[in-house]
Amino acid sequence: MKLIGVQITGTGSCLPEQVVTNEDLSKNLDTSDEWILSRTGIGERRFARPDEATSDFAIPAARAALEAAGKTPEDVDLVLCATMTPDMVMPTVSALVQRELGLVNAGGYDINSACTGFVQTITAGSNYIRSGLSKCCLVIGAETMTRIIDPANRNTAVIFADGAGAAVLEPAEAGVSDLIAMSAGLKGDDEVLFVPAGGSRKPLTPERIAAGEQYVVMKGRETFRFAVKTFARLITETCEKAGVAPSELAIVVPHQVNMRIIEAAVERTGITKEVCFLNIATVGNTSAASVAIALDHAVKADRIQRGDLVLFVAFGGGLSWASALFRW
Ligand code: UT7
Repeated sequence: MKLIGVQITGTGSCLPEQVVTNEDLSKNLDTSDEWILSRTGIGERRFARPDEATSDFAIPAARAALEAAGKTPEDVDLVLCATMTPDMVMPTVSALVQRELGLVNAGGYDINSACTGFVQTITAGSNYIRSGLSKCCLVIGAETMTRIIDPANRNTAVIFADGAGAAVLEPAEAGVSDLIAMSAGLKGDDEVLFVPAGGSRKPLTPERIAAGEQYVVMKGRETFRFAVKTFARLITETCEKAGVAPSELAIVVPHQVNMRIIEAAVERTGITKEVCFLNIATVGNTSAASVAIALDHAVKADRIQRGDLVLFVAFGGGLSWASALFRW
């Protein structure tokens, strides 16, 4: 079958209204604005209210992406949502988006790959388009991380945050706009970055909830080392696959994980920090939503032009990693 290209024709994002500054967190945690800013690059982030859930952010983000692409809800034939914090175990967030936006012609499903989710999802969606199986695919990354973060654990509470981003994918002329390379990998591990209870191995019980087993456990140092190495390797490996030099990248939209991780990784690959789009200072680490929100903010900041080489890079729980290189 002759492959066609794929184009990202619209983006959108939605952050919760509630802004939480480092000063706010310092009131209840043994931490400080100075520590958080210097160790992570995060100055503030957005937290969902108790009555808000992941689809409350996914729906406006998706609506904005459709508007930007000039598409109607009827045009969408596939909706894919990356999340590890769905509103409920069943139905999917994709199904809730389908209902609220009236995507009457769409099928779809959720993808859980922790922080790597959106990059995996935009790759999957792109391949539906490239194979001709989808003509208009809505891809979303959405999280309410604060539901699985222990507010009393300073190791994780200062990093993670909530929100959603979305993009519309459509066919394009091959050789003009396309997904030109990807990389992905797994190193199965349930000790470095994981949630102990709430799944089928350890269903939630009052005892497990009292022990805080519903919350993310993260070995910060190990995750940090894994992230720097993986990030750097993904940039070089993906560029090699596409036959381009890292210096040719117009923009890298990375998982907004930690400013120091991004700085250390770009130093190892010879690209400049300015090529990386960063919104971590005001958005924090929103896991599967992170690259999706950053993409929309980069588009709004006019950082991406037709023909640009645009690289998405993410890594996280799994352990997992993924990249996707687009000719915009
Ligand atoms: O998105 C999913 C993937 N996640 C990541 O990739 C996260 C990767 N890891 C990180 O970003 C960093 O490891 C952290 C930001 C989590 C921690 O920074 P670090 O520079 O690696 O700090 P550390 O864990 O080595 O801790 C250094 C010190 C410790 O105190 P002692 O033992 O030296 O007395 C910690 O207890 O900093 C302490 N500490 C804090 N102090 C104030 C840890 N968290 C905090 C905090 N405020 N929030």
